[in-house]
Amino acid sequence: MMRTPCYQYDLGILESTLKSINKSIAGNSDWHVHYAIKANANPLILKLINQYVLGIDCVSGGEIQVALDNGFKASSIVFAGVGKADWEIDLALKNDIACFNVESEAELDVIAERCAALGKTARIAFRVNPDVDAHTHANITTGKAENKFGIEIPMLLPIIRKALANPCFKFMGLHFHIGSQILDMEPYHLLCKKVNDLQDKLEAEGIKLDSINVGGGLGIDYVNPEQNPIPDFEQYFNIFRNELKLRSGQQLHFELGRAVVAQCGRLVTKVLYVKQGTIKKFAIVDAGFTELIRPALYGAHHKIVNLTSKGEMQKYDVVGPICESSDVFGKDEMLAETHRGDLIALLSAGAYGEVMSSQYNCRPLPPSETCKF
Ligand code: LLP
Repeated sequence: MMRTPCYQYDLGILESTLKSINKSIAGNSDWHVHYAIKANANPLILKLINQYVLGIDCVSGGEIQVALDNGFKASSIVFAGVGKADWEIDLALKNDIACFNVESEAELDVIAERCAALGKTARIAFRVNPDVDAHTHANITTGKAENKFGIEIPMLLPIIRKALANPCFKFMGLHFHIGSQILDMEPYHLLCKKVNDLQDKLEAEGIKLDSINVGGGLGIDYVNPEQNPIPDFEQYFNIFRNELKLRSGQQLHFELGRAVVAQCGRLVTKVLYVKQGTIKKFAIVDAGFTELIRPALYGAHHKIVNLTSKGEMQKYDVVGPICESSDVFGKDEMLAETHRGDLIALLSAGAYGEVMSSQYNCRPLPPSETCKF
């Protein structure tokens, strides 16, 4: 193993996950799954994902460049984000990506300017704020009226008309994304209903949609990852299969991130010290929120296991070395008796783990490797 802390990826788990996705959508030739590269942009992962012909969902120029550098076709790339900078728009236009998911009228105007400057046309969809509550953590819910994302439904029609009137645009349709780590399927039922209603209304105004993009958000099992390494894609896709009233020839797009990569990755860290306090025993490890920020940022919990000890189970607070009291991975964790030098794994860390790591405290970014769990 490389130096710790280190991200490890089990490509066997990733491959089973990708197979499960493709099996669930086989038979729907008008469906397209784009991998949300924000979840993990490690080339080890991207190479395999590319073999399963998933497209890519990007939210920055940097992500577009990484997708292209890793062999994804520009024609498979969709580009969302509330704050696209001019250089990012230019990069997307020059590469002729599949679609911009436009989030405001102001952005539409800037894309028109950049099209004129570069002599390009752009395929665009509008990101709609459907005002659906995904009942997930406040920091990762996106589809409510108070969130910054997308265009609210009452404001949509004049903006679509404006796009239709400008020959630099090919208007493709609508984009939705309601949030992340969604395990209760109710918000997806509501989303289908919203999409159906909106499509009826727009048709009554003479507006036709070539494509609908329902975003991502499908959650994973952080509590029992070893028992449930693969999310229930069948149940998820069936909701759209049964409830969305697609028109003939209409294309349906998905943007899954976490559900694709979370379970194939873990963060392995070494125990530096075991410290006995008056009421607590601490396992102080060499990873901190610099390597995995989800617990500190969202109060998320990743299952923790001691990979090297077979001792009796005992209670520990597992904490990192960063000089901040939020640098805690778990309180009162049951771990096999732990000693200095033991290797500890934080499971389900393949999504929004490595990619969100930082160099706070002048720490180096973590290395990564593949292995079988
Ligand atoms: N599409 C759009 C427009 C998005 O903003 C996102 C995620 C996705 C797709 C993919 O969502 P997923 O299938 O991965 O849920 N860092 C947070 C999650 C932030 C999600 C941001 N947007 C976390 O660690 O929980």
